[in-house]
Amino acid sequence: MRRLSPWGSGAAAAGVVAATVATVVLLAGSTHHRGHAPSTSRPAPPAPPGARSLDFRNALRVPPLLAPQPDAQGRKVFDLTLETGTSTFLPGTTTATWGANGAYLGPTLRASRGDTVLVHVHNSLPAVTTLHWHGMHLPAVDDGGPHQPIAPGDTWSPSWTIDQPAATLWYHPHPDGQTADQVYRGIAGVFIIDDPQAGALPLPNDYGVNDIPLVIQDKRIKPDGSLDFFDGPPGRDGAVVFTNTGRLGQTILVNGTYNPHLTVGAERVRLRLLNASDARVYNLGFADGRPFDLVATDEGLVEHPVPLRRLQLAPAERAEIVVTFHAGEQVVLHSFPPDLGNNPFGHGLNGDGESFDVIQFRAAAALRPAPALPAQLTTLAPLNLPAATRPRHFVLQHSNQINNVSMDMNRVDAVVIAGSTEIWEVNGFIPHDFHIHGVSFRVIQYGDGAVPPQLEGWKDTVFVPPFTTVRLLVQFGDYADPHHPYMYHCHIMQHEDNGMMGQFVVITRGQERQVAVNDGGG
Ligand code: C2O
Ligand code: CU
Ligand code: CU
Repeated sequence: MRRLSPWGSGAAAAGVVAATVATVVLLAGSTHHRGHAPSTSRPAPPAPPGARSLDFRNALRVPPLLAPQPDAQGRKVFDLTLETGTSTFLPGTTTATWGANGAYLGPTLRASRGDTVLVHVHNSLPAVTTLHWHGMHLPAVDDGGPHQPIAPGDTWSPSWTIDQPAATLWYHPHPDGQTADQVYRGIAGVFIIDDPQAGALPLPNDYGVNDIPLVIQDKRIKPDGSLDFFDGPPGRDGAVVFTNTGRLGQTILVNGTYNPHLTVGAERVRLRLLNASDARVYNLGFADGRPFDLVATDEGLVEHPVPLRRLQLAPAERAEIVVTFHAGEQVVLHSFPPDLGNNPFGHGLNGDGESFDVIQFRAAAALRPAPALPAQLTTLAPLNLPAATRPRHFVLQHSNQINNVSMDMNRVDAVVIAGSTEIWEVNGFIPHDFHIHGVSFRVIQYGDGAVPPQLEGWKDTVFVPPFTTVRLLVQFGDYADPHHPYMYHCHIMQHEDNGMMGQFVVITRGQERQVAVNDGGG
């Protein structure tokens, strides 16, 4: 079994930190032994959360908004260049990174429901890539999955009309078998969708002022500053790996900023949280225990603000929260040990048991007052279960298969009818993180208990604890195309690259006989 703990003991870890002040130390949690013998090779003893905190010396970078250029047809045209660069994360070192329109991460794109967007994606990388619009409802040819490769030097120009409620989406590369590495190198960005109803609500919405994206990632960085591409797991033809966990780093970056603080000038601030990590699950909460309000999940607003003290986010999940600050105070957003369910294969997976600081907020001496949150944010359509259809079952196996097969670009795994609603039932044996392209879904069953309140809104990605049945009511889109598939997969990115992914096409009735994958950027 692979152990991700970087150091043999807490004492050694303390020495490293004292010497370099460079690395967040992820402390072993103490309480969650879930029915198996504790391993002797775990670091010990556990220390209380935050015992070795950061000094938050760096001002948080906020990704700039990318201004679109209107074209003659009234489209909003965005230009993204994917390129190599150099970043400084740890003091005194530089790191070779990739980014969009810059060295690391990418600008925030923003468009409103009804807008037609055109994005020119220039590939200046030394590798084939793609750019996927995670959470977007759009035709499969524009989705940016593995079937839309962009060769080095080429430009890909998808265009589509935004037709979904306000939400915080994101973009990232999705090339066949290379997603984990390319996202880890730094290509990812936020895509904000607006709509008039959401825009009329008294929610903080001044980007970069009281409405701030927080792209949270973990890295393992070598002493020379280079990214550590550790844990090269066997590929999809390699040995079966039950507990390949993906990359789990000890250096936390927020918007590419190590050791960050953000000065806030408003009483209420909206944080658009995105977990853009490979495998780590965060359990976010404030060090002082203050509550905050969840106002949106992956695919849009929740019906009523949900007061929470902790919010768990698996890779690719998003959440919008509104936090109330008091003048002059400082408070730290922390990640507490996540609840990863009853995992029989041991600790150390996906951040299990680990606890660390994420970012410090520094409230100005005087704060701009803000209205109270509205009691109702939106109306979610009632859950109408399709009567006659049987659920589809997806069993996530090892780190590389769904229903006994690994991803095959030439195989269509499911055919669904445009505009239909289906129940998808997902299960696994170690922690996984299920995502479906091009749709929104509702979680209608989450294990044996009630669906947790933070999973009650529209979503596109959901954490699947081991031995837990997760049932999704999936609303498929209207873009029928028998030749271009959408993906569904585990969003633990190395699981995805190992082959824990499948393909579905959306068709209209009568197109069944045309179904065949048309590959190669068609
Ligand atoms: Cu975030 Cu298949 O993607
Ligand atoms: Cu996606
Ligand atoms: Cu997985």
